[in-house]
Amino acid sequence: MADATDLLDAGERLGPDELRTLQLERLRASLRHAYDHVPFYRESFDKAGVRPEDCRSLADLARFPFTTKNDLREHYPYGMFAVPRERIRRLHASSGTTGLPTVVGYTDNDLSMWADMVARSLRAAGARPGDLVHVAYGYGLFTGGLGAHYGAERLGCTVVPASGGMTARQVQLIRDLKPTVIMVTPSYMLTLLDEFERQGIDPRTSSLRVGVFGAEPWTEQMRREIEERFAIDAVDIYGLSEVIGPGVAQECVETKDGLTVWEDHFYPEVVDPITGEPLPDGERGELVFTSLTKEAMPIVRYRTRDLTRLLPGTARVFRRLEKVTGRSDDMVILRGVNLFPTQIEEVVLRTPGVAPHFQLRLTREGRLDRLTVRAEARPDAPPQVREAAARAIVAGVKDGIGVSVDVEIVDPESLERSVGKIRRIVDLRSRDAG
Ligand code: DLL
Repeated sequence: MADATDLLDAGERLGPDELRTLQLERLRASLRHAYDHVPFYRESFDKAGVRPEDCRSLADLARFPFTTKNDLREHYPYGMFAVPRERIRRLHASSGTTGLPTVVGYTDNDLSMWADMVARSLRAAGARPGDLVHVAYGYGLFTGGLGAHYGAERLGCTVVPASGGMTARQVQLIRDLKPTVIMVTPSYMLTLLDEFERQGIDPRTSSLRVGVFGAEPWTEQMRREIEERFAIDAVDIYGLSEVIGPGVAQECVETKDGLTVWEDHFYPEVVDPITGEPLPDGERGELVFTSLTKEAMPIVRYRTRDLTRLLPGTARVFRRLEKVTGRSDDMVILRGVNLFPTQIEEVVLRTPGVAPHFQLRLTREGRLDRLTVRAEARPDAPPQVREAAARAIVAGVKDGIGVSVDVEIVDPESLERSVGKIRRIVDLRSRDAG
């Protein structure tokens, strides 16, 4: 095999000064593009009293206003786009805090850059042209499946677009088609592990060599378990739809020391989640991204709500992110699906027989995260109405958010309140982790 450094692309070969020069040049062009073509940015820059040309150094970016998921929702569906709809080649969407998803769009060039970044990520993970890649991220509006797919093709791999679900069939495909690389959420990898064992197959005998896991937080303990039980290298991939999808940052297999941010395309900052003040590298806070090359939907200082810190580069010139383990908002990631309590609230509110008082309990049974919605019945609701309400909430959440949950209708006033408030999320998963 060629020395890995022989395979680096032009961006990865930049020196530190060249990188900063390129970033500033791209940042200025991107701020100008956003200001000239997206009324939202023109208004928000004007309100903050800054113009694109005021960005003379990378530090000047801190003078520009933040963008939030709520801004995207207020401009649903196409208000954040900087090019005519006809130039948008593909749309994806991710969950919003309410029923409205966040719609994101890509031009031809954006799709090509995205494929390049996923190809670069796969290469950093240890994949090489000619590898056979099993993609078990969901295909569809979620960016995971198609994002991984086109990146693997771009690298020159053979792709099996397995998508999510049908666990027994996934195992059969892995046995028969003999992929060397798998891309899937880490929690589903553990489900596959159990299925291998249920079928009496030693996972260590599989053809897999590398696993590229992301879309949800996972731990060093999960890495060890997956690596040992499958005899593979397990590395982390990070991304979010608003920035591009998977392939914003990737852990390098030779160091496994956090995720290298592809900062020639996505400029990272870490800010204090309360005050919004930028924090020096090394300090923990909320991750913020500004796109440097996106055409369809340039994004300026997007508040990801993910908590982490920036660390100096090791395997590459680019800085690293420490593994993302938490969020500054109440978004829950259940089996790879993003979910906000407010989305459950919408379902509860429209269900007859239940009061608008509910709690979300997250537990872990074996490998699987389970979410139980506990909602209080209305005082006058007879048993059959309570049962119908439970069924309606299960169906409403499945239809609206796409995940299966359990529902318990409990007696009025029975959920514990503290200073009058019900604790919205009770996360017992670490207790159950064993
Ligand atoms: O989850 C994109 C993706 C797909 C990344 C496949 C990696 C693999 P969204 O649905 O928009 O996009 O969700 C983005 O998921 O803000 C994080 O909170 C979380 N997340 C993504 N990757 C990781 C990771 C995709 N490696 C949100 N570790 C992000 C922890 C992650 N959290």
